[in-house]
Amino acid sequence: MAKLAIFYYSSTGTNYKMAQWAEAAAKEAGAEVKLLKIPETAPMSAIEQNPAWKEHYEETKDVPEAKIDDLDWADGYIFSVPTRFGNVPAQAKQFFDMAGGLWFQGKLVNKVVSAMTSAQNPHGGQEATILNLYTTMFHWGAIIASPGYTDDSIFAGGGNPYGTSVSVDQDGNMKEDVEGAVRHQAKRTVQVTDMILKGQG
Ligand SMILES: Cc1cc2nc3c(=O)[nH]c(=O)nc-3n(C[C@H](O)[C@H](O)[C@H](O)COP(=O)(O)O)c2cc1C
Repeated sequence: MAKLAIFYYSSTGTNYKMAQWAEAAAKEAGAEVKLLKIPETAPMSAIEQNPAWKEHYEETKDVPEAKIDDLDWADGYIFSVPTRFGNVPAQAKQFFDMAGGLWFQGKLVNKVVSAMTSAQNPHGGQEATILNLYTTMFHWGAIIASPGYTDDSIFAGGGNPYGTSVSVDQDGNMKEDVEGAVRHQAKRTVQVTDMILKGQG
């Protein structure tokens, strides 16, 4: 059974929702799944200035936090993080930067990885964010399982072959219907992880 860790960071809930869809689909595909929140690093003073951020922060207090050991535990990873100026949030970067020890021991090699994101604008940097995230994964020796155009749900969700992405309005509502694309991406990540595990014998 493939072990899949779904790591997400979310200020206002979009990526948490996407991660939950991915969790359900990965379980349906037969994986052992952990849904894990990348730890918040922003000061409370910043969180409290944004009511939606504060509300989501409080609502998800009980979601287990991602630990570096989870990177070792899982055979495959899905990351879901919002776009920040066309890049990954600092919270995700901080988490990646704590993985130096595992990287040094070669323990991140051949992990299967797929990424998703959201942004406020349809051309607000979604592809750039996912590519920037994958750059770190290249250094880990991970195997990128991008969705490509492997299913009709990808076209229905806006057609991002790098990884599912969605845009959100001012109130934080998703504009495109990406649930099918998220679910397909999660199942495909489990399938590719299974292939790698079988290949390793
Ligand atoms: C500091 C900051 C930078 C952002 N940069 C961008 C951006 O470059 N392009 C964009 O379209 N949206 C940008 N956004 C909007 C976020 O991407 C959007 O709020 C997020 O995708 C919502 O996801 P969440 O609900 O999971 O937090 C930015 C938001 C913040 C707070």
